[in-house]
Amino acid sequence: MKPPVSVTITGAAGNIGYALVFRIAAGQMLGEDQPVILRLLEVPQAMTALSGVAMELDDCAFPLLHDVVLTDDPGTGFRDTNYAMLVGSKPRSKGMERKDLITENARIFAAQGKAINAHAARDIRVLVVGNPANTNTLIAATNAPDIDPANFTAMTRLDHNRAKAQIAIKTNHLVADITRMTIWGNHSATQYPDINHCLVDGTPATELVSMDWAIDHFTPTVQRRGAAIIEARGASSAASAADAAIDHMHSWMLGTDEGDWVSMAIPSDGSYGIEAGLIYSFPVTCEGKAYKIVQGLEIDEYSTKKMRLTEQELKQEREIIEDLL
Ligand code: NAD
Ligand code: LMR
Repeated sequence: MKPPVSVTITGAAGNIGYALVFRIAAGQMLGEDQPVILRLLEVPQAMTALSGVAMELDDCAFPLLHDVVLTDDPGTGFRDTNYAMLVGSKPRSKGMERKDLITENARIFAAQGKAINAHAARDIRVLVVGNPANTNTLIAATNAPDIDPANFTAMTRLDHNRAKAQIAIKTNHLVADITRMTIWGNHSATQYPDINHCLVDGTPATELVSMDWAIDHFTPTVQRRGAAIIEARGASSAASAADAAIDHMHSWMLGTDEGDWVSMAIPSDGSYGIEAGLIYSFPVTCEGKAYKIVQGLEIDEYSTKKMRLTEQELKQEREIIEDLL
């Protein structure tokens, strides 16, 4: 058996937290040969609820779960931790855009970036789920100057999975047949789900669906899926968000499938002309616990416009939280 690694989950008593912690303890994120110590960080008023989550973790008797630490102190929550899933923050409600959460949530990520810088393992891998996820990642990474910014990522895997599902439904294929999906940009309504490189059982998706359908139906469905779920459920996505968080970390740590890629929001290195440093979703392959942006994709005029639009929104969000950088 490998030595255990520590995984910090913030907001662990919340909706996503409740859908996430059990699956990590079961080995679905880091592998069934990787024992884990869960460090669950909450706000003081949620500690009683968190103790209930911990009782249920005990009652599952997960063989891989070596310890559970419950805390409302960020220093303890991030101590020597190897992985951080930054979920804890306010979700939006009906009628809001994710960026409407900026002012309320931004400070959480500045404080947690500082705590990670002071206490976490130097090679920590961070996934930000809390919205607006890309800009919160920028804040956390900037407040952790001693950690490689490349280790800070935001989640667009949910959008990636949603896009694959829509293509599978439309073409009457299994989701497993859909490869090379790409989400560009921000986890917001300006994101650009791009099917120009996508394959359906090896056939280009663009040969199976019309561009009119892609523009008028597919794109807005993926961009607005989070809002549609809030409208229907009265609460934001939780099980699918936790699932995507597990997928994101699993791909990053254990690698992507041969010939396929996934979408991750990462600090731009200037690829495809996107301003360096912005946390922007790119198609990436993962190997040896590192990601690499897929290079050389042909980008047409329509795609260029869409990629710029979502980049522009990220720059505007950055202006709003400038004081935290
Ligand atoms: P929730 O309200 O059910 O749970 C949030 C939890 O975070 C609560 O238990 C709260 O006490 C805790 N919390 C708040 N501030 C904290 C802090 N400073 N430290 C630690 N814990 C803190 O919300 P949820 O449905 O779990 O959603 C959480 C976040 O995830 C929201 O911002 C939501 O918009 C976002 N989200 C992102 C995606 C994505 O694809 N990136 C998908 C779904 C939801
Ligand atoms: C989602 O995409 O489901 C989440 O970001 C929640 C939201 O506010 O849409």
